[in-house]
Amino acid sequence: MDGPAANAPYRAITVERCSPTIGAVIGNIDLTRPLSDLEIVEVKRAFTENLVIFFRDQKISFEDHVRLAEYFGPTGQHVGKKTHSQESTDPRVRKFHFDKDSKGISGNAWHTDQSCAPIPPLGSILYMHTIPPDGGGDTMFVSMYAAYDALSDRMKKYLEGMTALHDGVLIFGDGTPRASHPVVIRHPDSGRKGLFINGSAVRFLNGVSRTEGEGVARTLIEHCRRPEFQYRFRWEPHSIAFWDNRCCHHYAIADYFPHTRSGYRVQIEGIVPPVAA
Ligand SMILES: [Fe+2]
Repeated sequence: MDGPAANAPYRAITVERCSPTIGAVIGNIDLTRPLSDLEIVEVKRAFTENLVIFFRDQKISFEDHVRLAEYFGPTGQHVGKKTHSQESTDPRVRKFHFDKDSKGISGNAWHTDQSCAPIPPLGSILYMHTIPPDGGGDTMFVSMYAAYDALSDRMKKYLEGMTALHDGVLIFGDGTPRASHPVVIRHPDSGRKGLFINGSAVRFLNGVSRTEGEGVARTLIEHCRRPEFQYRFRWEPHSIAFWDNRCCHHYAIADYFPHTRSGYRVQIEGIVPPVAA
């Protein structure tokens, strides 16, 4: 498939950017039917350029959900031993249902999904059909490109060649994998450098004293929380958020108890391990 040049206008879909650093709403598209070759090319381009893309008013089935994912790669399974999400009737689709009886809520901390895996997921597509009233249950996203770009040249130099242990046991319990990854990675599609440090799974950097490694890790994780790097997405019923797990982190806001927030998620397998920039 031949796609448009990088700076060409979109011809099939509309792309409305949400912020200077991250996020775009995709329009003029119907995800309940197979996409044309041009639509696929343009959705992939919008995904690479914007890190997380959103769709509104898409009443998708499991088949529709999986079809969108498979334009990007095979669907994957969660590597965690214990999670707050649940199985659905389709093994490719996980149920994200939270209400007054829930013991906890998935993703209620800044994180990237399952970075503890040797090859973390490429991305995830979250569809919500039921949204709490009064604007609760937003999801926040942060650009790890913007976070990297804003580091001092001294810190960028210091981080060259550094790795960090991503400990899945801290999040998902015994039996969940651990993996060390570069702290600064190069995105395989965009070619851009981004920070890859997961606040939920990383406690220290490797190869230096524990005091130093913990201190620098804490500083980087705190740095990524600057609002300038972020966008906060307000859900509506039948909205979709599709994030690139390799260059953005997200945070599910747990402000809607005892109301219900309910939907489904499909995860796309990673293709390559994170590569040092
Ligand atoms: Fe997540």
